[in-house]
Amino acid sequence: MKFGILTSGGDCAGLNAVIRSIGLYLLNNVKNAEIVGIPDGYGGLIRGESYPLRREDFEDILALGGTILRTTRQPFKKMTVAEEGGSRLSKMVANYKKMGLDCLFTLGGAGTHKTAALLRMEGGKVIGVPKTIDNDIYGTDVTFGFQTAVEVATEAFDRIFTTARSHSRVMLVEIMGNKAGWLTLHTGIAAGADMILIPEMPFSLDAVCDFVTARVNAGERCTMIAVAEGAQLDYEAKFKKEDRAFVRTELGETTVTRHLSEVITERTGAEARYSVLGYLQRGGTPCAFDRLLCSRLGGYAARLAAAGRFGVTVAFAGNKVTFNALADIAGKYKFVSPESDIVRFAKDIGISFGVNA
Ligand code: F6P
Repeated sequence: MKFGILTSGGDCAGLNAVIRSIGLYLLNNVKNAEIVGIPDGYGGLIRGESYPLRREDFEDILALGGTILRTTRQPFKKMTVAEEGGSRLSKMVANYKKMGLDCLFTLGGAGTHKTAALLRMEGGKVIGVPKTIDNDIYGTDVTFGFQTAVEVATEAFDRIFTTARSHSRVMLVEIMGNKAGWLTLHTGIAAGADMILIPEMPFSLDAVCDFVTARVNAGERCTMIAVAEGAQLDYEAKFKKEDRAFVRTELGETTVTRHLSEVITERTGAEARYSVLGYLQRGGTPCAFDRLLCSRLGGYAARLAAAGRFGVTVAFAGNKVTFNALADIAGKYKFVSPESDIVRFAKDIGISFGVNA
């Protein structure tokens, strides 16, 4: 059997650990398994590029950050648009056949799964593996790369806390996550943030400033705020996504963090500063939790392939490695519910979400 592997969308820690686990499972358990890597995600499939992966390619990559296969973002909405030589989808289908693949592993996030579901509808035998630091893939309790990003962001937050305390400042720490606030929520709780602002819970400037003022009046030395990249003001949330993006771009920014730190200083008199953690959260070696998760998800995906179970994405749910039909999860996201236990618990221990009760 011939197997292809690609990694698509934004990278994260653990991609190579999954590649390794798929490769080792196939080489150890499937007679005459032939494995090829497709470079640059769906980009390589559109161009029809692949190269052999051998046992030695899987050595020494368990702890390696990034992806040995490289990656690109290929917007889903462009997949079926007619272009020179046919749509990207028709090129991928043709190249899948030309490569003689019996199965294609697609390691990626929600967008990757949507495209994988299209390929499946065209007869491709695909198996997805859920990757993203955003942890927003429907049908799995956790995605690989998420926990590493939580660890990195938590360490950064801890460090920023000590300087905030020395200077008696309000510190805003911007954490990745445009649509979903999981990374900010977990980091905020793990690092002892006083306030957590996530896209799912639009915040009020009044509530944020009142909270900071109350802390200053109570003699607190500093205030630590975890701000998701996609955090939004309550009045912004009423705009359509495009209009919101337009207003932000007019102001010369894509996130609300700098504006918020200025407003806090103006309105409360407290000295506010901000730090954007950015790509630190995606780079580097996976933590032990992710190495284990990647090894289990990759091995399980390969086992499904060997058993001829296609059109699925593997998942970790209810403390078990399992799978979902691609058709059931493609296009769906998993967001933080403001009513969830974890949010309620955070509020119970005094964390503010910038929303007036
Ligand atoms: O991969 C997820 C993510 O890191 C998001 O948290 C973030 O909004 C986005 O990717 C950044 O994407 P890019 O790599 O295209 O700047």
